[in-house]
Amino acid sequence: MEKPIIRNCSDQFWFVILLFFLLLSVLLCFDYSAFYDAPNNGFLFSVTKQENPFAIAGNKTSFNPDPCKSRYIYIHELPRKFNYDLLEHCEILTRGTEKANMCPYIENLGFGPEIENSQGVFTNSSWYFTNQFMLEVIFHNKMKSYECLSNDSSLASAIFVPSYAGLDVSRFLWESNEKVRDSSGRELLQWLASKPEWKRMWGRDHFLVSGRIAWDFRRQFDNASLWGSKFRFLPESMNMSMLAVEASSWKNDYAIPYPTSFHPSKDAEILQWQSKIRKQKRAHLFTFIGAARPELENSIRGKIIDHCRNSSFCNFIDCSYDGSEKCDNSINVTKVFENSVFCLQPSGDSYTRRSIFDSMLAGCIPVFFHPGTAYSQYLWHLPKNWNKYSVYIPVRDVKEWNGNVEKILLRFSGQEISAMREEVIKLVPSIIYADSRSKLERFEDAFDLAVKGMLEKIERVREMIRNGKDPALGFADEDHYKYTFSNY
Ligand SMILES: *[C@@H]1O[C@H](CO)[C@@H](O)[C@H](O)[C@H]1NC(C)=O
Ligand SMILES: *[C@@H]1O[C@H](CO)[C@@H](O)[C@H](O)[C@H]1NC(C)=O
Ligand SMILES: *[C@@H]1O[C@H](CO)[C@@H](O)[C@H](O)[C@H]1NC(C)=O
Ligand SMILES: *[C@@H]1O[C@H](CO)[C@@H](O)[C@H](O)[C@H]1NC(C)=O
Ligand SMILES: *[C@@H]1O[C@H](CO)[C@@H](O)[C@H](O)[C@H]1NC(C)=O
Ligand SMILES: *[C@@H]1O[C@H](CO)[C@@H](O)[C@H](O)[C@H]1NC(C)=O
Ligand SMILES: *[C@@H]1O[C@H](CO)[C@@H](O)[C@H](O)[C@H]1NC(C)=O
Repeated sequence: MEKPIIRNCSDQFWFVILLFFLLLSVLLCFDYSAFYDAPNNGFLFSVTKQENPFAIAGNKTSFNPDPCKSRYIYIHELPRKFNYDLLEHCEILTRGTEKANMCPYIENLGFGPEIENSQGVFTNSSWYFTNQFMLEVIFHNKMKSYECLSNDSSLASAIFVPSYAGLDVSRFLWESNEKVRDSSGRELLQWLASKPEWKRMWGRDHFLVSGRIAWDFRRQFDNASLWGSKFRFLPESMNMSMLAVEASSWKNDYAIPYPTSFHPSKDAEILQWQSKIRKQKRAHLFTFIGAARPELENSIRGKIIDHCRNSSFCNFIDCSYDGSEKCDNSINVTKVFENSVFCLQPSGDSYTRRSIFDSMLAGCIPVFFHPGTAYSQYLWHLPKNWNKYSVYIPVRDVKEWNGNVEKILLRFSGQEISAMREEVIKLVPSIIYADSRSKLERFEDAFDLAVKGMLEKIERVREMIRNGKDPALGFADEDHYKYTFSNY
């Protein structure tokens, strides 16, 4: 998303008006500071003083004296066992069922090893072999260079909890004793609740980030045969928010994009990439990269694969068994996406896939079959009018479904396709995590949008408290309709 243009200086008349209000408000400020020194009311008036005296001029953003107002974030200093120690002992972390070691992915602030030579698949710099589970590390590092950090938690609008919750729980997810799975999360919550910051809003201004899907923390009952930890059902956790690559259906979980391989350090690198994928020749009408899910009864994957195999317009890359290596490699995967007009994104083990973002990054128009794959997830990052950037083929009942993907996609005209692809290309900055070692000037990245979204949610809770309402109302409720077809 492009940043809104803040100043509009061409009009001299407005400039004079502005000058007048500036003078006026300097006077106002003097008034305020007289009150401000009153010792007993220090805190109260510091709030009042921050209220923008220029607001009468009509445009809050343009004349805001403190660009960080309402955006300050305080980073909790956690015991190292909840973050840094996990990286130091990276050999104990797993990527899931396969036991491959996570250590190589930690370098470069969590982006992983830099890709030196992509044989023309990528642009020349800022591409990495990034692992999705490193999102917590990437986010933490980006937060460390966030422009509105505050050392003083009492001035901060939000409290960031830099725990690597997903990496932590991954050590125990395959552990049969469910109490062991919950233990580290429980300790973290005890620590948080013992801090003075907790009592201010009972945790409702606290948030953390997970590179694993939120369901991994949503075990509803104490039954060892059920999946996951119950971290997010513990009482303190219910008062907090979590950002994860896939949200659960509870309202205090929010979805943010999976990390891709692209972490540009300047605007120009984004523009260069956009122009490369805009010019790309695309030999295939549609592509599916993935594996079947025969063990999942209601999985659409099998049908999609049959369909793809039958169609001369489809390019199917099989990731099952020996194919998994090839599908893990960003260069190979992106090469395929760059060569296709549409990319099929059926759900797999969970609703979402990293592949959504890898394919969009390559300028491939996504095709979704379920609202939970993207539309009801990435509300801060993907636009509401989904038909502009994607194709939706709702499959309410997999067994009954006999839709013809090829026929549906062949119906789009060249012009319609170009327009949709342009929308996808425009979304590139919003779905990437830019390099935290520098700052983008013109674009807001996935981190910026996530922080903005989170701050707005917390502000709404604060507003409820100010209005004497119970902040617990609706905060952590289950949304039974979130992943149904009723809204889409
Ligand atoms: C005031 O802000 C609005 C929206 O934020 C913008 O459209 C408008 O151009 C701004 N006006 C001035 C005078 O900057
Ligand atoms: C990218 O790198 C290649 C090989 O090192 C070089 O030939 C090419 O000019 C570079 N392109 C840009 C845009 O820097
Ligand atoms: C926080 O405080 C430390 C030491 O008091 C100081 O070095 C650092 O610059 C401060 N950071 C911010 C963001 O104010
Ligand atoms: C745990 O879940 C399994 C499978 O759902 C069920 O068969 C079993 O009875 C449950 N055990 C307890 C103690 O609830
Ligand atoms: C959660 O917030 C409520 C207020 O809404 C508070 O009464 C409760 O004690 C909090 N829970 C914990 C564990 O702090
Ligand atoms: C694929 O082709 C086979 C043989 O022509 C046919 O039986 C099957 O129904 C087709 N599958 C799909 C999904 O089109
Ligand atoms: C990428 O694809 C090429 C050609 O298909 C293959 O030879 C190579 O092994 C693949 N690389 C990886 C890392 O899978």
